[in-house]
This record gives sequence, C-alpha cells and structure tokens, in this order.
Amino acid sequence: MDDNDKLLIETAIKASKRAYAPYSNYPVGAGLRSVDGTLFTGCNVENAAYPACICAERTALVKAVSEGHREFDALVVATQNGGSPCGVCRQMLYEFAPQLRVIIVDLEGNVCHESTLTDLLPHGFGPASLNR
Ligand code: THU
Repeated sequence: MDDNDKLLIETAIKASKRAYAPYSNYPVGAGLRSVDGTLFTGCNVENAAYPACICAERTALVKAVSEGHREFDALVVATQNGGSPCGVCRQMLYEFAPQLRVIIVDLEGNVCHESTLTDLLPHGFGPASLNR
C-alpha cells in the first residue's frame, strides 16, 4: 500500500459522495487506475426502472475505456460496509484486467479486503476463451 494507492482510496471515497442512490441508499464509489497512472472515478447511478441502475465500478470502467484506456492495475471500491464488487462488474473488469488489484475499503478508508480480480472471479471467461 503506497501513496498512489492511498490517493486512489481517497478518490474512491470522494466519488461515493456523488452516488445517485435514492432507492437503495447504498452509495458506492470506485477509483480505477490506468497503468499510465490516470485515475478514473465512478459512482452508482440508480434509476426508477431498477434494472437500469449501473454500479460504481462499471461507471469508472466505461469512462476509462471511452477515454482510450484499456489497461488497469488497481481498483478501489468504497462502501459503508466493505461491500464487494458484484458479479457483473467482476466480469466486465475481467475483460481488460484479470490481474487487477482490488482494494475494498469503507468510507473511513479502512481496508476491508485486498485481492486480485482473478481471486474474485476464478476461471473467468475472457477474450482468450474465444480462441481468437
Ligand atoms: N452497487 C455498486 O455500485 N457496485 C457493486 O459492485 C455492488 C452494488 C450498487 C448498485 C446499487 O445502486 C446499490 O449498490 C445497491 O445494490
């Protein structure tokens, strides 16, 4: 855990303050770091039509990829109780960064869990699975 990781943690916590979560009241912030050091943030954005909600992690990922970034080395997810990324987010992240470090923190910045995406999604289905 170096200063860059600490900055990413602060960034994810700040992002959680921008969550739009009137239905769940469960704000989530994400900080995703590109291998060139660029930081992307995301928060959950809910919708009255519930299935249209998007998670913080996918918000950050889609922002990053749409800005031309495809390689990532760390993700921080910040929630009130150290919640872990959902399955859909794990799958979407696996496409780009199976070795991604995933750091899960609470909103005070306490580290609840640290692992890699491959640990969170063992035997994942990725680009190589298509044999192309
Ligand atoms: N949520 C995330 O943002 N990330 C996750 O990985 C798990 C769940 C959001 C979705 C919804 O807005 C709220 O948390 C409750 O499920």
